[in-house]
Amino acid sequence: YQMGKDQKIQQLHQKRAESRQGGGKERIERQHQRGKLTARERIDLLVDRGSFREVGSFSTHRTHDFGLESQKMLGDGVVAGWGPINGRLVYVFSQVFTVFGGSLGEAHAEKICKIMDMALKNGAPVIGLNDSGGARIQEGVVSLGGYADIFLRNTLASGVIPQISAILGPCAGGAVYSPALTDFIFMSKNSSYMFVTGPEVVKAVTHEDVTFEELGGAEVHSSLSGVCHVSAENEADTLFMIQKLLSYIPQNNMEDPPFLPTNDDPLRMDEELNSIIPDDPSKPYNMIDVIQRVVDDYQFYEIHKDFAPNIVVGFARLGGHSVGIIANQPA
Ligand code: HXC
Repeated sequence: YQMGKDQKIQQLHQKRAESRQGGGKERIERQHQRGKLTARERIDLLVDRGSFREVGSFSTHRTHDFGLESQKMLGDGVVAGWGPINGRLVYVFSQVFTVFGGSLGEAHAEKICKIMDMALKNGAPVIGLNDSGGARIQEGVVSLGGYADIFLRNTLASGVIPQISAILGPCAGGAVYSPALTDFIFMSKNSSYMFVTGPEVVKAVTHEDVTFEELGGAEVHSSLSGVCHVSAENEADTLFMIQKLLSYIPQNNMEDPPFLPTNDDPLRMDEELNSIIPDDPSKPYNMIDVIQRVVDDYQFYEIHKDFAPNIVVGFARLGGHSVGIIANQPA
């Protein structure tokens, strides 16, 4: 309180800069070398430019075990807040892999719970950008308790507001159990993984050699387990696909999805439809061709593209209204 006003403002700027640093330059460089963006770069790409409002940027953990008392990083490994995407409010948390591997401790969990509560109160989607080794081992049972608080909110929010998860790094333990409770899971190819624990731990425990990709890469979860709904080429593409999904879904269970005016005439005829389906019922055809010719502007947003390929599900628009499509796939 003895500080002058200017000094206080200077201190505030310093703390903000420190919070933005995450785990430091070297770790940020390592993140970029792996083809990954930082937590803040991801938010910048996701929400409307310059509109993100952050909470808890100076939070720190309260642990005194395993030497953690000397390693306090402002923000505690997660950036949380809100901002619009195409003008529509969303709440976002983005884990900072450069701080303790994005692992979740008590303060980290409190920040996520805070924006989940706000999202539920205000009826807006929650988007989690996950890049985390799961429960922060040094904080022990306190971090497990943090996950319990998040899982509870995942279940309370289910069916009330959309919950969307992007997996953007090696995610283990609670950092995949919580996303698994959400509505849509996006993965970025060749840089994101979902597993109970990483290959090194698997090797130590079971003596098994397994690669990141085999254990929980985007391909495995898109085609084999079906855990991943949409896999994208890279992080920027993943975030773009999330923005696109939002255009088809409502903000909450009380609202309608957005209406998007179209120049595609609802009375348009497509003669091709007469010949796509073969006369011979034993001959297959591609149902996607049919869907694209029926919906507005040939735009079909497919979910689970590589999983259970004998059925097609996804979103499209008819006369500007969002529709869900479920179709058999003879091909
Ligand atoms: C604390 C962690 C951590 C964790 C990673 N780090 N996971 N710190 N708690 N859970 C730290 C590392 O020490 C390292 O710190 C940095 O993050 C990067 O980790 P690396 O191993 O160097 O990176 P990488 O080779 O990419 O491997 C990432 C990983 C691996 C696959 C996530 O670290 C791993 O397998 N971690 C253990 C994951 C795990 O078992 N989690 C389950 C927790 S139990 P430095 O200082 O070197 O940068 C759980 C249960 C929840 O979540 C249940 C709730 C009820």
